[in-house]
Amino acid sequence: MFRFAQHDRIRSLEPPRVLNIEDLRRAAQRRLPRVVFDYIDGGAEDEWTLRENSLAFEAVTFRPRCAVATPACDLRTTVLGTSLPMPLILAPVGSCRLMYPRGEEAAARAAGAAGIIYTLSTLSGCRLEDVAAASKAPVWYQLYLVGGCDCALAAIERARKAGFSALVVTIDTAVAGMRERDIRNGAKELLSGKLGAMLPFVNQLLTKPRWLAAFLADGGLMKFENVVIPGKGPMLYADVTAALEQSVVTWDDLTWIRQAWNGPVVIKGIHTGDDARRAVDAGANALVVSNHGGRQLDDVAPTLRVLPEVVASVGDRIEVLLDGGIRRGSDIVKALCLGARAVMAGRAYAYGVGAAGTAGVARAIDILRTDLIRTLKLLGCASVEKLGQSFVDIPQEWLRK
Ligand SMILES: Cc1cc2nc3c(=O)[nH]c(=O)nc-3n(C[C@H](O)[C@H](O)[C@H](O)COP(=O)(O)O)c2cc1C
Repeated sequence: MFRFAQHDRIRSLEPPRVLNIEDLRRAAQRRLPRVVFDYIDGGAEDEWTLRENSLAFEAVTFRPRCAVATPACDLRTTVLGTSLPMPLILAPVGSCRLMYPRGEEAAARAAGAAGIIYTLSTLSGCRLEDVAAASKAPVWYQLYLVGGCDCALAAIERARKAGFSALVVTIDTAVAGMRERDIRNGAKELLSGKLGAMLPFVNQLLTKPRWLAAFLADGGLMKFENVVIPGKGPMLYADVTAALEQSVVTWDDLTWIRQAWNGPVVIKGIHTGDDARRAVDAGANALVVSNHGGRQLDDVAPTLRVLPEVVASVGDRIEVLLDGGIRRGSDIVKALCLGARAVMAGRAYAYGVGAAGTAGVARAIDILRTDLIRTLKLLGCASVEKLGQSFVDIPQEWLRK
């Protein structure tokens, strides 16, 4: 019975039903309770930055070279010396285990099968050792300092032993962003575990019985298995907002974090050329131009618009990655034309987790890969390494800084 249901779900991800990431988004919306779907889909405050991250890609247009044969396109690149089959990395997305049973392992398995790096969030429900074991490809670990420095040091040690190859330090989360959809949906109340508080909001869960059955079979509300508080054990879900407020990462922290990790460090959450230079000075090995997918400070500029400024200030000294708004392979091409070495995708694969676990993430990766090849061929460009500004028209004001 379960096998039939699973088979149906996988078939429902195939064309013509799911042709693009927006179709995958709708599939996730159908399966998930509103509170879980909006947690993935939503952004901070007016969601201006969330929208603009995507709209910025529309402001960049292509300049193809036609009548050029490109029988095979080479998608390979390297990041931090690791060769990647395509310039795509899965970004850290917290709480995937709310979306699908053992969600982080499910995502890592799909990434591994495609040879793609998966980044595990500190705020995940699966043990980091299990996630590393689920992937055949390299995995990165994203660090928040929730639970304090000792807690972070223990996680860093576990991540090293489990074989994670880079540490991603997110610097844009001094407090949790104001995500109004979560408040309206009663996310806090539903996570409190208190029946009285949960009751007004519980209907959303009951109307998605398939999700609910899978969620309960997976053990119900998870704890943060990689935030082990000394003397207390894994951090409870209800404690996360307060913990984030007490755990801001500063440039000074980078010193002890780098010493403890003793491997490549990626700084995620760069919004300006100035901070990019600070990241280089702090000894980062790569950086991610990222506004957390519009989930933290609203009204910051879309990442694609900031990318030329960052590349101009540090592009010759450090590898620059970008995330925010990647929904099509053509978005990846545009980011590379503007100087990114590779991109990270968040929601594009999180919708896949919500829709169908490993199969959904595999479908998201496949959509982006197929798009990427087609776009390169239509541009008359034989490899991602050859992409550059001559393939695009960029709004002039983006280049002024
Ligand atoms: C549901 C969700 C949870 C996220 N959790 C984290 C997290 O725990 N740590 C982190 O550094 N970024 C987190 N992010 C941000 C992503 O890593 C990434 O920056 C963002 O999703 C990129 O934008 P995109 O979703 O438009 O691709 C999260 C994003 C989403 C959508």
